[in-house]
Amino acid sequence: MKRLVVVGSVGLALACATVSGLATGGPVGEPAGAVVVAAQETSSTILDGVFTSAQARRGRLVYGQNCGSCHGPELKGGEMAPGIAGSDFIVFWTELPVGSMFERIKTTMPEDGPGRLTDEEYTDVLAYILDSNSYPAGETELPANKAELDKIMIVAAE
Ligand code: HEC
Repeated sequence: MKRLVVVGSVGLALACATVSGLATGGPVGEPAGAVVVAAQETSSTILDGVFTSAQARRGRLVYGQNCGSCHGPELKGGEMAPGIAGSDFIVFWTELPVGSMFERIKTTMPEDGPGRLTDEEYTDVLAYILDSNSYPAGETELPANKAELDKIMIVAAE
């Protein structure tokens, strides 16, 4: 998991170095971590069609096998777990990047075996959660990469 994040961060740092290199002569000597944090600007929101319906359908299967027993078939939660749809989703996640939700789910869920799914499966579940919250599907899949997911902001539907 560490490795994937680092690979993504290097890409981001390079992209950032190129951009700021044009403007300021580049962040030479700055610790990579600082560059990465500065580069975490979002470029789209979940209203922009950031997953595909096929991805959401895959995520639905993953959810059914790994999450539904606690979070319920409608993602409304229950005695075992909080809801991850509707107002629960909005209250917990608005104004955070999708990457934060990815990281949270990947490191703590399923509660009975955190981290046991692949990054692709976690990402497909995210697509399913967005789909279940009535956000629009689009032409490209959500990327299974935290740095990329950090560029997509969770916002409330209008
Ligand atoms: C064994 C029961 C169980 C399973 C299985 C499970 N969860 Fe959870 N989940 C919980 C509990 C309990 C909490 C609340 C405690 C906590 O936040 O860690 C929670 C919290 C969450 C949260 C944070 C709630 C919020 O919005 O702040 C998310 C998101 C989430 N789960 C997603 C998932 C996903 C996705 C899966 C499947 C990959 C999954 N969970 C599987 C029990 C479960």
